[in-house]
Amino acid sequence: MSQSGIVVKELRTYYGEIKAVDGISFEVQEGSIFGMLGPNGAGKTTTIETIVGLTERKSGQISVFGYDPVDEIDEIKKIVGVQLQSPSLFPRLTVKETIELFASFYPEPKEVSEVIEKLGLEKKANTRVSDLSGGQRHRLAVGLAMVSNGKALFFDEPTTGLDPQARRQLWDVILSLKKEGKTIFLTTHYMDEAEKLCDELLIIDHGKIIASGSPASLIKESFQKTAVEFLDPDFSEEEKRELLELNLAERVNYETGKNRIILYTNEVSDTIKGLIDFASSKGKKLKDVMVRNPTLEDVFIKLTGRGIRE
Ligand SMILES: Nc1ncnc2c1ncn2[C@@H]1O[C@H](COP(=O)(O)OP(=O)(O)O)[C@@H](O)[C@H]1O
Ligand SMILES: [Mg+2]
Repeated sequence: MSQSGIVVKELRTYYGEIKAVDGISFEVQEGSIFGMLGPNGAGKTTTIETIVGLTERKSGQISVFGYDPVDEIDEIKKIVGVQLQSPSLFPRLTVKETIELFASFYPEPKEVSEVIEKLGLEKKANTRVSDLSGGQRHRLAVGLAMVSNGKALFFDEPTTGLDPQARRQLWDVILSLKKEGKTIFLTTHYMDEAEKLCDELLIIDHGKIIASGSPASLIKESFQKTAVEFLDPDFSEEEKRELLELNLAERVNYETGKNRIILYTNEVSDTIKGLIDFASSKGKKLKDVMVRNPTLEDVFIKLTGRGIRE
C-alpha cells in the first residue's frame, strides 16, 4: 500500500486580512505526483511556502514524511527540494556554480552534471545567472530543486513562461523524477500539464478547495456530456439569452476574453442542428465549430463560472 508522504490538515495561512490559504486538507501519497491547480492569487505559492517552512501558518497541521515545518525545519530542509517562482539567485555565479552551491546544502545531492544535462543547460553551464534568459533562469530554478535529491520535491508553476518544447522537456524531467520514487508536489495553471502529470489533483480558488480527485475522475464526475464549442458569431446579449432558452444543452458558457461559446450536451446531433437553425434565423454564420470531450478547463469553468486564465 502506498503511504502518505505529505499530510496537510485544515491549513490556514493569512497575510493580515488576506486569507491566502483558508482551511485546506489533503494527502500526497509517497512516490506520486500531486498537483494544485488554480488561477493567479488562488493560494498555490503560499501553500508550498507554508509546507516547506518559508511562511508560518496561522493554524492547521502539516507533516512532511513525519516532520513539522515549524518545529523540525532542519529535518525538513534535508529531505525537501523546492523550486520557487522567483528564487533569489546570485547574478554573478554561473549556472554550474549556482547548482554546486545548492548541492552543498544537502546531505546526498544529485550529480551537478546530471542536473545540467537533464535540464538541457549544458551550453549555459558557464554562463552567469545575470546573462540567462527568463526561460533558462526558470529551468535553473527547477534544477535547484532537483539537485537536492530530496524525497519530496516542490515545483511552483515549473513551466510557466516556457515555450511548448521546453515545457514538454520539463514534463519528461518531472516524470523521470517520479520514476526515481520522488514524491512530487506541483502547482500549475495549465490544464494540459495537470492532466498529463498529476496522479491526484486539487482545484483551488480563493484559498479553498473546490474539487479534488484524479484528473480523469474530475472530468468524469463533472461531465457525462460532450462539448460543442464555436466562435461567438457576435450574438447580442438578447440572442444569447434566446439560445439558452432553446434548451439545446444543459449548460452554455460564454467565455469572456476568448469569444467562444460552449454548449454541453448529451444529444450532439440535435444540438448542432438546433444551433445551425438558430444562427441562420438570426442571419449569422457559425465558424470554427468543434465537437470534443470535456477537459479540466471545462471542469474549472463549471465550478467557478470563469476560465482559469482570466
Ligand atoms: N507576502 C504577501 N503579503 C501579502 N499578501 C500576499 C503575500 N503573498 C501572497 N499574498 C496574497 O495571498 C493570496 C494568494 O497568493 P499566492 O499564494 O501567491 O497565490 P498563487 O500562487 O495561487 O498565485 C493573493 O491574494 C496574494 O495577493
Ligand atoms: Mg504563485
